[in-house]
Amino acid sequence: MITVEALTKSFGSTRVLDGLDHRQAAGETVALIGPSGCGKSTFLRCLNQLETHDTGRITIGDLTLEGGRAATTEQQRQLRLRAGMVFQQFHLFPHRTALENVMEGPLHILREPRAEAEARARDLLAKVDLSARADHLPGQLSGGQQQRVAIARALAMRPQLLLLDEPTSALDPELRDEVRSVLRQLAEEGMTMLVVTHDMQLAREVADQVVFLHQGRVAESGTPEAIFNAPTHERTRDFLRKVRG
Ligand SMILES: Nc1ncnc2c1ncn2[C@@H]1O[C@H](COP(=O)(O)OP(=O)(O)OP(=O)(O)O)[C@@H](O)[C@H]1O
Ligand SMILES: [Mg+2]
Repeated sequence: MITVEALTKSFGSTRVLDGLDHRQAAGETVALIGPSGCGKSTFLRCLNQLETHDTGRITIGDLTLEGGRAATTEQQRQLRLRAGMVFQQFHLFPHRTALENVMEGPLHILREPRAEAEARARDLLAKVDLSARADHLPGQLSGGQQQRVAIARALAMRPQLLLLDEPTSALDPELRDEVRSVLRQLAEEGMTMLVVTHDMQLAREVADQVVFLHQGRVAESGTPEAIFNAPTHERTRDFLRKVRG
């Protein structure tokens, strides 16, 4: 589903991604972990072409993006249809209700009939346990509820893949569980997800594969058991010691 070969990306003279390789099968959930500044968000931003990578190749399904040239409008469109994004800060439309937020993409991008878009949005809100909040504005919802609306909104576009950048980081600890459980359910249903996270409990609960990024490349990857219980690289051990306090 995702193949990334020898990806590089610099900002000025700083090389942030430095020959990153990654392979992920359809239906697999990968947790991307690593110290602050190691390039995790930059990697996600290259995958959805919010940034153009300098060299290397990204393949998502049947779409190939070569480094050094900005994605064409058509490639951008293809990418938007394949990959849904979920952000740390939710990025919901503040003046639209939960239901309207979820319907927005299907109505205006997929041009689905309103009745169909609304029925599906209600199903998705039910799936993230928010049927009772369909008519609330984001400001009237807790962080955990807003993030679940954001996940429903991404799913409404019927993506083949979800890219999530620290989906639980902005949440109070007691609200993280409700988002983790939604993501766990999606993983069990076979959604392909790449989730950047500092939340090791989330990584442990949802990931088939944990990838540890260090200085812009993959230092180590493996099952959650292998990475968390028996990391082989000193860098991974250091990092885990720090995040565990
Ligand atoms: N648009 C940009 N212009 C210049 N430098 C940037 C830009 N975006 C990111 N960087 C730099 O690239 C490096 C990697 O940033 P990135 O946001 O990918 O890290 P991260 O692993 O997501 O960190 P965190 O865990 O803190 O979110 C950092 O040194 C950052 O300052
Ligand atoms: Mg980041």
